[in-house]
Order: sequence, then structure tokens, then C-alpha cells
Amino acid sequence: MVIAQADVTAQLDAARREQFPRGAALTLDDLALAGREGVLDDLREHEPVTWMPALGGWLVTSRDAAREVLSPTAPMTVEVDQNMVRNSLGPMMLTSDGESHDTQRRPFEAPFRNRDIELRYGERIAALAHRLIDDLGPAAHAGEPFDLGARFASPFAVLMGGELLGLSLTDTERIDDFYSDFAGAMEYTGDPEPMRRADVARAELTAVLLEELEAARRSPGHSLTSQVANDASHGLSDDELAAQLRVVLFGAIETIQASVMNTLYLLAQHPDQEAAAMDDRTLLGGAQEEARRLIPPVSFIERWTAAPVTIAGIDVPAHEFVGVSVLAANRDPAHFDDPLHFDLARANASRSLSFSFGVHACLGLHLARAQTTGAITALWDRLGRLRVVEAAEPEGFAFRKPAVMRVASQQ
Ligand code: HEM
Repeated sequence: MVIAQADVTAQLDAARREQFPRGAALTLDDLALAGREGVLDDLREHEPVTWMPALGGWLVTSRDAAREVLSPTAPMTVEVDQNMVRNSLGPMMLTSDGESHDTQRRPFEAPFRNRDIELRYGERIAALAHRLIDDLGPAAHAGEPFDLGARFASPFAVLMGGELLGLSLTDTERIDDFYSDFAGAMEYTGDPEPMRRADVARAELTAVLLEELEAARRSPGHSLTSQVANDASHGLSDDELAAQLRVVLFGAIETIQASVMNTLYLLAQHPDQEAAAMDDRTLLGGAQEEARRLIPPVSFIERWTAAPVTIAGIDVPAHEFVGVSVLAANRDPAHFDDPLHFDLARANASRSLSFSFGVHACLGLHLARAQTTGAITALWDRLGRLRVVEAAEPEGFAFRKPAVMRVASQQ
């Protein structure tokens, strides 16, 4: 059942502002812009669960409180009118609760298991990365700077998404447009046009996916679509399968791009650790984990209370919005020693919340790790160390990465 978020009266809002002065002063820019991370550190120390009027809800910044919100037993829901991901991408695993969520996710668990990922996609990831590096052309190979996001990380994520879903090249070329139409409807502006575009994109992508499911039954292949199309045991209709494939595609684009860029960005700032990882590639696993902790590609997670709940000692009534700052939780000194320091050998980096926690924990995390490793390994093998010629500090409210990052081969 989709519920509506409760209205908070002006009186209640005023009382909460008084109780949580730091939260009351926060702006959305504090959550989005580079250089404002210190505000979140201060908040975590003094008001780890706070009322943030600019958000129209509660903000959680400590790791313990965040785990309470994301815990499978917390009375939280995503089936809410105000869930913009649900409005944009439609009902599917990420926007469903309980049994309905589990039924939709179950068929995808096996294809995303670690050993299946390596087996099915290891070589494809490497081949794709090498193809894109070929396409950079002789100038980039000779040391001319290139745009890491536009020329490599973004097409790498998009093309891999297309491969995963078994899309034709023509349909893969449309992924960028689908993606921007979905993402466009996830920012509240009050303008109905972005939602109309998302509705059109959803219908068009669904048509492509339904055709793909049919084609995969006629001639089974390696793709995820083919795997779920040819498994009759799960009992999901083709419309339901297409809905999950939509979120798989959406979930695998900006996140992967950010993971590759943020890891290289942080390594470039720590040349000793970069040299160590280039020398001993087994360190790349720890490096990417630590990069995702310090700069989480998904920086903000949304939930709504389904019933009254106490989070880290703060009572939150039913049907209110609770935002988790993954960025703040991942820098919690109670869990991560010297949290602002980048350390590729940090033993507990994988205990960050970058892949979330609980029932909605990222389905694609093994693939994400394999893709990040595959992309960076190929870049280093072919271009050697990448010198950062120009980079903006990573920022973003929901997704965090450098808006600009130009690099040059140093070979
Ligand atoms: C570094 C890259 C990635 C990051 C940081 C990331 C992060 C996340 C996070 C934080 C969530 C949970 C959101 C929530 O709790 O509300 C999530 C869920 C999900 N992710 Fe990822 N993701 C990444 C890559 C991928 C890839 C490559 C795929 C698939 C190919 C994928 C598919 C999904 C799906 C299907 C869900 C929904 C799971 C559910 O609701 O049960 N993700 N991801």
C-alpha cells in the first residue's frame, strides 16, 4: 500500500527547530556541495538524528543511527507517494517493501553472485575497457589530456549496462537518454514536465526490455535478461521482470562512473598509495573500497517511517521522511579511525554504508567491484599512471563524483 507522508504543522516544525538548531540551519547545499563536509561532521557530533526543515524530514549522520534506519527490522517503508524513485522508475524491488520486495529480488540473487559475476562478465569487462581505451585515439595514448568521465567512465558504465541486459547497439545508444529522463524526474522542482518525460522513457525502455525477454527465450544468450527470461521458477510476469531490469540498468550507470572516477581521484592525491597499488594490483580491491567509503557514489538514502520509531534516542512519528547521509555515516570516527584519511589498507573500509545495508543492500555490489577493478586495471595496463590535469572536487546530493576530471597518460 502506498502511503502519503504526514504533514508537519507549523507549530510542530517550530518546536523541532528549537530542539535541533543545527539541523534547522542546514541547507540542501550543505549536503551537496564540496567543501561542506565539515558541517556534517559537526552535526554527527551534536545532532546525529536531526530535524532538517530544508529536507522536510529527518537527517541521520551517525553510522549507528543509519544502521538503525536501514535495519531489516526497522518500521521503515519505501512505498510512499513522495518516493521520487518510485514515481520515476515505477514499482520494483528498490521501491517495494516486505514480501513483495523479496519476490521481485529473489530471481536476481543467483545471477549476481560473486562467482557467477567473475565467470560471466570478467572477460567482457576487460574487453570493453580495452575497446574504449583503443577509441581514445593516438593523441591520448601519447599523453594528451582527455576527459575521464565523458571519454571512458561514462561509456564504460553505459555499454556494460547494455551488455548486461543484452541490448542491441541501437538500444544501448538510447540508454543515456533514458537515464537522464529518469534522473530528471527525481529532483523535485514542481514542474510536471520531467515526470512526463520519465513516463515516456519508462514506456519506451519497457517495450525494449519486453522484446528482449521474448528474443532471449527464442535464442538464449549470456545476458542477465536471458537468465531470468529462461527461469520459469520465479513466477514473475514479463512486466515485473522488465521493472527489475529497469532498476538494474539505472543502478549501474552513475554509480559505476563515480566509483571509477573517485578511486582514481583519491589515488592521484596519494601518490605513494597509487604507486603501491599499481605495483601490486591486489591492493586495488582495498583502494576502491576505501574510495567508496570516503566519497560514496550514492551519498544519500531515503526512507519513510511506517510506524512511530525511536532512532538513536530520538522519537520520530509515523509517515515522516528520514534521509541517511551515507557520506556522513562513512566518516563516523566512532567506527573509522582518522576517518578523513585515505588508507587503502584500512581493515574495515568495507563496513561503510556505500552499498547500503539491510533488505535493499546493493544487488550489484560484486559486479560493481569487478567493473571498478577491470576499468582501472585496463587504464593502468594501457596508459600507465594517469596524471590529473584538472579535477573538480567530488560533490553531489544523491550521487557524488567530480564534475570534471581530465587526465593524461604519463607513459
Ligand atoms: C559502485 C557502484 C554501486 C554503488 C555505490 C551502489 C549503491 C547502491 C545502494 C546504496 C543501494 C541501496 C539504496 C537503498 O538502500 O535505498 C543499491 C541498491 C541496488 N543496486 Fe547498487 N550500487 C552500485 C552498482 C550497482 C550495479 C552495477 C548494479 C547492477 C548491475 C546495481 C543494482 C542495484 C539494485 C538492483 C539495487 C536495489 C536492491 C533492492 O532494492 O533490493 N548496483 N545500490
